[in-house]
Amino acid sequence: MERVFSGVKPTGHLTLGNYLGAVRRWAEVDQHRADALFCIVDLHALTVDHDPGRVRRLSRQAATLLLASGLDPRLCTVFVQSHVDEHARLSYLLECVATDGEMRRMIQYREKAARQRARGGSVRLSLLTYPVLMAADILAYGTDRVPVGDDQTQHVELARDLAARFNQRYGQAFVVPRAAKAGVAARVMNLQDPRSKMGKSDDSGPGIVYLLDEPDVVRRKVMRAVTDSGREVVYDRERRPGVANLLEILAACTGGNPEALSGVYETYGALKKDTAEAVVEVLRPVQDRHRELCADPAYVEGVLRDGAARARGMARPVVDAAYRAIGLLPQVSGDGDGDEGGGSVEGGGGLGALNAAR
Ligand code: AMP
Ligand code: TRP
Repeated sequence: MERVFSGVKPTGHLTLGNYLGAVRRWAEVDQHRADALFCIVDLHALTVDHDPGRVRRLSRQAATLLLASGLDPRLCTVFVQSHVDEHARLSYLLECVATDGEMRRMIQYREKAARQRARGGSVRLSLLTYPVLMAADILAYGTDRVPVGDDQTQHVELARDLAARFNQRYGQAFVVPRAAKAGVAARVMNLQDPRSKMGKSDDSGPGIVYLLDEPDVVRRKVMRAVTDSGREVVYDRERRPGVANLLEILAACTGGNPEALSGVYETYGALKKDTAEAVVEVLRPVQDRHRELCADPAYVEGVLRDGAARARGMARPVVDAAYRAIGLLPQVSGDGDGDEGGGSVEGGGGLGALNAAR
């Protein structure tokens, strides 16, 4: 079966963008069709200024929201990245395959680093190397497909490049993954600034709809969305980004098509009103289930514990094989404390390990 991996960073509360651009499809499609892993990538949350308590709270909340959104631990593996050491272990090897030029070309790095410097702040080295850790997340599991929003395709491309380069230099150790984009709403834009993404780490609350926003808060945010000059409702991403964003959100929530929907509305007000109600309806079941799960934290913890154990079992042989392939001396376990990688294997063994892990 196809292996799918995706992740969400606990750097802020999950947004409508996360849901329509990624999580909803994980729940509705991916977990049913593939052998899927969904990861709360907490190590990635440390690449920018962070508050330890907040990262912990957001990690727990993200896990709860993924389950509330319909991820079913009987169908897929839900876990926390830092619970599985293989991610960091593999990341270092991949740093030895990636180049610094490649890292500096990453658009997200350039944008975030520029913003932080403009504020007079410093940039953590981990922000630069973060796409390598992301590649490790993906490659450790022999992933075939990575369902992500638009903003992540460059990072998945990098994972592809690193996998192919490693395989070519050191022998077949990794599956070369590919990105899969969401259709409609692959990029939900900020309601107050429709030329930039609705990102959860941004500070500007009014333009961001959070999954846990109360219905009245959702209505207020959508009704106050910035629209464009002009009056008629037309779908034109370039010239009318505000209206296009509302049409895309409405389409994503109702299963419609933004172009077709543009013909239905005479005024911006009517479009906003329907969009607000559509969003409220999409969020309602997620919020209801979230409330139930919050009353049962032991269940969520159990899911994460089992998920990490399963994930470890898959990643360990792949990463061990990569360590051997790249030229590191295998540990010979004398006392039986766990190195199932074994001592005697020369060189590769990569494909065998990959297949065993799958
Ligand atoms: P992140 O919030 O960066 O951890 O993203 C988690 C997932 O949600 C990734 O697959 C992103 O591509 C996707 N995502 C985040 N924000 C948006 C957005 N505004 N529109 C569409 N997809 C998004
Ligand atoms: N970088 C992704 C984001 O910001 C999150 C992420 C980390 C991820 N590791 C991943 C997504 C592996 C897919 C696969 O959205």
